[in-house]
Order: sequence, then structure tokens, then C-alpha cells
Amino acid sequence: MSVIPKTPEEIQQMRVAGRLAAEVLDYIAPFVKPGVTTGKLNDLCHAYMVGVQGCVPAPLNYAPPGYKPFPKSICTSVNHQVCHGIPGDRLLKPGDALNIDVTVIKNGFHGDSSRMFHVGEPGIQARRLVDVTFECMWRGIAAVRPGAHLGDVGAAIQAHAEEHGYSVVREFCGHGIGRKFHEEPQVLHYGKAGTGLLLAPGMTFTIEPMINAGKAGIRELADGWTIVTKDHSLSAQWEHTVLVTERGAEVLTLSAGAPPPPAGIAA
Ligand code: MF3
Ligand code: CO
Ligand code: CO
Repeated sequence: MSVIPKTPEEIQQMRVAGRLAAEVLDYIAPFVKPGVTTGKLNDLCHAYMVGVQGCVPAPLNYAPPGYKPFPKSICTSVNHQVCHGIPGDRLLKPGDALNIDVTVIKNGFHGDSSRMFHVGEPGIQARRLVDVTFECMWRGIAAVRPGAHLGDVGAAIQAHAEEHGYSVVREFCGHGIGRKFHEEPQVLHYGKAGTGLLLAPGMTFTIEPMINAGKAGIRELADGWTIVTKDHSLSAQWEHTVLVTERGAEVLTLSAGAPPPPAGIAA
């Protein structure tokens, strides 16, 4: 149980990988329209990562213990799907809320980011859930600094979600990231301030809250990957990879098209 801060050289590689992951999301954004399939979005992202960026898509054939290999290069999770949706022949329709989760490997280092997209015009409920979940992610990021505890991150996220009547998914969390896709620490999106790992400069991890409009319960589909809300309520997720700096946090998965932090959060 140890979290080893990255060296300056490793941090530089993490900046490169992080920016590339964000740029895949920039690239795919204009293709998210009614009538496109999630499989087509996967194929476009795959070609961009491999052919343009010279990256390896980390999800493809990724098989943690107890899982079968993930068959695609990105995750696409629609509406009541929480995470790990497998791209396929599903046609997106107006009003769908879609999470696209991209993880690239560049020079052996991982960059991991996801964004929400509205297909056509969003309904009021979807817009609000997606916006509040974005704020949750940024409140978590704003809690990151040397001397803070991971519980501060989780508590900030949980408080904001529950203030809006939403619930935090418990079974999946953010994670340390580097040469490995998922490493220590686990970054819970709920918890108690002042508890958990003490943060130190050089640590890199993701913050990726999954927030449900209804109850927190989830279940896994028979495909062995897709996670959905038990009550079929809408779910949203945003994800950044961050670095603990001497002063606070540096977000590694920024790009020209990344939405800016919400009002009230310093960039
Ligand atoms: N990108 C996801 C995360 O944020 C993990 C996806 S695992 C996969 O941790 F195999 F489904 F791609
Ligand atoms: Co992640
Ligand atoms: Co991810």
C-alpha cells in the first residue's frame, strides 16, 4: 500500500499522454449527432489515436482480474448506463446523454479523461445532472493540494451531489495512473474530510465521479462490462487526470476543446 510520486521526467510524459487523451475528445465532439452509432464513434477515435496520434487505446483488450477483455477502444455510456458501455450498433437519438471515456497510452504512460455530450437538444433533467456532475468533478479537483487528504476530495464531491438530490455511485472510483492504467490510490467520490491518503506533490490520479439522478445502486449487464443504474435513472460522469503540485493541482487532461472550469473554481 504505497503511492510513489512521479519523477519530473515521468510527469512530463504524463502531461503528453493527458493532453492526447483530451484531444481525442476534442476530435470526436463534432461527430456526436443524432443517427451516429457508438460503434462509429469508437472506430473514428481508434483511427485517430492509432493513425494520427501514434497512441495505443488502453481499453482495447484490457482485462483486469475477473473481467473478459474489453472489446473496443473507448467506452460509450448512454443515459442510464453509468460507465464501461461497449460501443456497438446503438444509434444515438436526440435527447440522449452520452459519456465518452478515452484512455491513451503514449510512450508507456496513460492519460484518462471522459466528457458528457448531449445528442441534439438536452432535456432539463439531463442538462442539470450533467452540469452538476461537472461541478462535482471540479470541486473534487479544487480540493487537491499537498497536505490535503483524499477524503477531502470525496467529501467535496458527495456534498455537492447530495445537495442537488443526486447520489454517488460507490462501486467505481478514480485511480492512480501512470505506467499502469489503474494503480494506487483508489480515489473515492464520497467520504469524510480529513481522512484517507495524505496527498504529496508528484502523485497522479483520476477524479471521475459517477452521479445518478435516482438511487446509487448499480448492476452489471450480461456483456460483463456495461454498468447501469438499478432504478434505470439517468447517470452522468466526467473525468480528468490530475497531478498534485507544490501549490495545488495541475489538470493533465486539458486541451483547446475541454470545457473550462465552472464559475467559482480557479483554473
Ligand atoms: N477509462 C475507465 C476509467 O476511467 C476504465 C475503462 S476500463 C475498460 O478508469 F476496459 F472498460 F476500458
Ligand atoms: Co479512469
Ligand atoms: Co476513463
